[in-house]
Amino acid sequence: HSKTRLFCFPDTAGITSYVPKITQNVTFGNLSYSSFLLDQPLCIFNENINDDIWLVVATGSAKPTLTTAELSEPVDQSLRKSYYHTLRATGRDYPCQISSSAVAILAVGSQNCSGISYCNAKLKSNESYWVKFVVLGEYVAETQWSNQIITKEYKNFTPNSVPPNTDGMIALTIILGVLLAILLICLIIALLIGSKDICWHRTFDSRNLISWDMGRGSLQAIHNSKDHIYM
Ligand SMILES: *[C@@H]1O[C@H](CO)[C@@H](O)[C@H](O)[C@H]1NC(C)=O
Ligand SMILES: *[C@@H]1O[C@H](CO)[C@@H](O)[C@H](O)[C@H]1NC(C)=O
Repeated sequence: HSKTRLFCFPDTAGITSYVPKITQNVTFGNLSYSSFLLDQPLCIFNENINDDIWLVVATGSAKPTLTTAELSEPVDQSLRKSYYHTLRATGRDYPCQISSSAVAILAVGSQNCSGISYCNAKLKSNESYWVKFVVLGEYVAETQWSNQIITKEYKNFTPNSVPPNTDGMIALTIILGVLLAILLICLIIALLIGSKDICWHRTFDSRNLISWDMGRGSLQAIHNSKDHIYM
């Protein structure tokens, strides 16, 4: 459904002079290797509460030169152009008053894109981006471009941050467990068969030595008792 749009700017001074900015209102995480956080463009779309407001994300080392006609036709990020439209909202979503505890930010690059149109796709690391808001309603209006935003370089973290191959780990654990059980059984069998005479009898022997020793206190008795027990 294509609308006829006026490429003229009724009282849009607040919009056309607005420069999107990375927020300073969070203690950390306003710029990462795959995303950044913008201040919401509050209180500039009062005349556009029902109009669509899009964020245009452009990439490239130089400030993009997109025509108003290009900006006014939403482009999906999956088309892999040098720019795309995302974070569709309406003017109503960017009011003048927000709750005092809220932090009005927009995360750019926060989505996993399978099957999502106009996805807010994760950004590339160490890449230059420029953003601007466009109003697509009865008329088209656009903010300034942001300054160049360069995402952080992706650093390989320590190996334990890489998810382990869990299937392999489980198989290995089971094999080790089985081997250990077999070893234990062998050990028990070996004890029962091979060492019966030595180990068991010695145990009984010494216990009996003590009990006989205490009971009768005679060396002769101890020797006799051993014979009985050995049967
Ligand atoms: C991120 O926010 C901090 C303050 O919290 C600010 O000093 C820093 O400049 C911001 N980063 C960018 C890229 O604007
Ligand atoms: C993103 O999608 C991939 C593949 O569909 C999935 O493995 C991953 O868990 C998803 N990540 C998040 C954060 O949803």
